[in-house]
Amino acid sequence: MSSPIPLDYTTSYGSSVNYPDAGQRVSTNGPLLLQDFHLIDNLAHLARERIPERLVHAKGAGAYGYFEATKDLSDITSQTLFRPGRRAEATVRFSTVSGEMGSADTARDLRGFAIKLKTEQGNLDWVLLNTPIFFIRDPGKYADLTHATKRHPQTNLKDHDMFWDFFSSNPETVHEIMIFFSDRGTPDGFHQEHGHAGTTFKWCKEDGTFHYVKLHVKAVGGFKTLTAAEATTLAGTNPDYGTQKLYNAIKNGDYPRYTVYIQTMTPQQAEGEYRNIALDVTKVWPHALFPLREVGKLVLNRNPENYFDEIEQLAFAPAHLIPYIEHSPDPLLQSRLFIYPDTQRYRLGVNNEQLPCNMPIRKFGNFQRAGAASFVSQGSRPNYLSNIFQPLNFDGPTGAIDSQIRNNHRQEHFDGSVYRDLSEITVDDFVQPRDLWLRVWNDKERETFVENVSDHLKVVQNKRIQYNQLLVFCQVDSDLALRVARAINFDGFQCPTN
Ligand code: HEM
Repeated sequence: MSSPIPLDYTTSYGSSVNYPDAGQRVSTNGPLLLQDFHLIDNLAHLARERIPERLVHAKGAGAYGYFEATKDLSDITSQTLFRPGRRAEATVRFSTVSGEMGSADTARDLRGFAIKLKTEQGNLDWVLLNTPIFFIRDPGKYADLTHATKRHPQTNLKDHDMFWDFFSSNPETVHEIMIFFSDRGTPDGFHQEHGHAGTTFKWCKEDGTFHYVKLHVKAVGGFKTLTAAEATTLAGTNPDYGTQKLYNAIKNGDYPRYTVYIQTMTPQQAEGEYRNIALDVTKVWPHALFPLREVGKLVLNRNPENYFDEIEQLAFAPAHLIPYIEHSPDPLLQSRLFIYPDTQRYRLGVNNEQLPCNMPIRKFGNFQRAGAASFVSQGSRPNYLSNIFQPLNFDGPTGAIDSQIRNNHRQEHFDGSVYRDLSEITVDDFVQPRDLWLRVWNDKERETFVENVSDHLKVVQNKRIQYNQLLVFCQVDSDLALRVARAINFDGFQCPTN
C-alpha cells in the first residue's frame, strides 16, 4: 500500500509532485533517470544536511521566553532596557562543553547558558556558564584547554593523561577544577542551573562614567545536581536527559524561571585594592564585598518548533552588545569577541545574522552586502559612507560623532607600549580554592570532591602527571592533596615543606 500524499507537496522550487517517493526508472527494472529532478534534489539536499557542529558546546537544548527588568538601574547605566517593566524576547540555549553533538547531557562538564535578548536597540547576548569562574585567564591557553579536554589525536579517545597534563601544568585552573569535580559538574538537567558571565563587562552612562559588572542569572529554587553515579547511569539510559527535561517542563507549563543580578565594581576599586580580581575570570568577586543587585527576571515559556532552524543555527557572541553595555579590557573576553563571530562565519556563513533565529528585531542598516545566502535586502541604500544620499551628522571637532568617540576614549587609560603577556601563577591563585575547600564546603562536599576527582585522576597512566596535580592540590591545602593521594594509591606522597 502506498503512503498518503501530503497536501501541498512540492519540489523545492514549488512545483506540485504527485508521487513524492516514487523515482523515475526506465521500464520497471531499468536504471534511474537523472532527469528526475525531485529525487536527485532530495538526495543532494540530504547529503548536505549536516553543518559543522560547534567547536565547543556542540550538544545543547533551547527554548524561548522573555526578560523583564524589575529594578531601575539608571545610576549604573543609561541603557533603558534596565528600567522596571521593560521587556525583551529571549532565546536561550543550554549546552555541555567538550562533548560532541550526540554526547550525554549528564557528562561531567561545565554547562553553557546562552541568552539572546532581542531588544529594540539590537541584540544583546549574554553568553554564560553555570560556574562563576573559568579555568584560564590567558586567551593563548584556550586552544590547549580545548584540545586537552577533547579527543587524543592518535587514539581519538578522551584521554585522562592529556587532560591532567594540561591542568597540572596550569595551576590557575584548580579553582574551576574543584567546582568541576564537585556535584556542580553534573547538573540535574540543563535548566535547573545558574548562569554566570564570569568575564567582566562595563555598564556605562551617557556622561562617560562606567562600572565594571559581573552578571549572574540564578535559577529560582536554586540549582539542582546529580551524584556522579546518577549522572553515569543516566548517560547510558537516557543520554538526552537534560534536553527532554527542559522540553517537558515547558510543555507541562512548569516554566523555568530565573532572577538576573549584577555585581558592580568602580574603576577606582578595579585599579586599586581589587586589581587582582577585577578582570581575572579565575576569581570570584566575594558577595560580602560586592553584593548582588537585582536587575530583572527571565522566564522560559515556549519550546521551539524546529531544533535545527531555531536553536542549532543560533549565533551567540559576547560581542553582540547594545549601547551603554560594553566589553572590558579582560584579554580572555577580548579573544572571545573575535572567535565567536569567526566560528559562526565558518559554521553558519557570513550572513548568519540574517537567519530568522539571529535577526535583530531592529532593522539593520550598514554597508555589508552580498556574500553567500544573503536574503535580507538593504535595497538601494548606499553601500558606502555617502555624504550625498545620507548626509552624516558630522560637524567638526565638536560634532556628535566626535564627542561620542571622545567619551569612549575618556573611559580607560592604557599604557601605549606593546608587550607579550602571560599571567604568572601567584599565591593569590590558591586563596579562593582554599576558601572553597575549608570554609564553603561541608564534610560531605569535601568527601564527594575527593571521590569524584580521584576516580578520574587514578586512570592516568603517567605517574609524573599525577604527581604534578597532587603538587597543585598541595598549594590549596595539604589535607586535600593527601586525601586525593591516598584515594589514587599514590604511595608515599607528601606535600613539600617550604
Ligand atoms: C578564551 C576563552 C573562550 C573561548 C576562546 C571560547 C570560545 C567559544 C567558541 C568558539 C564557541 C562556539 C561558538 C559557536 O560555534 O557558535 C563557544 C561557545 C560558548 N561559550 Fe565560549 N569560549 C571561551 C570562554 C567562555 C567563557 C568564559 C564563557 C562564559 C562565561 C563561555 C561560554 C560559552 C557558551 C555558553 C557557548 C555556547 C553558545 C551556544 O549555545 O551557542 N565561553 N565558546
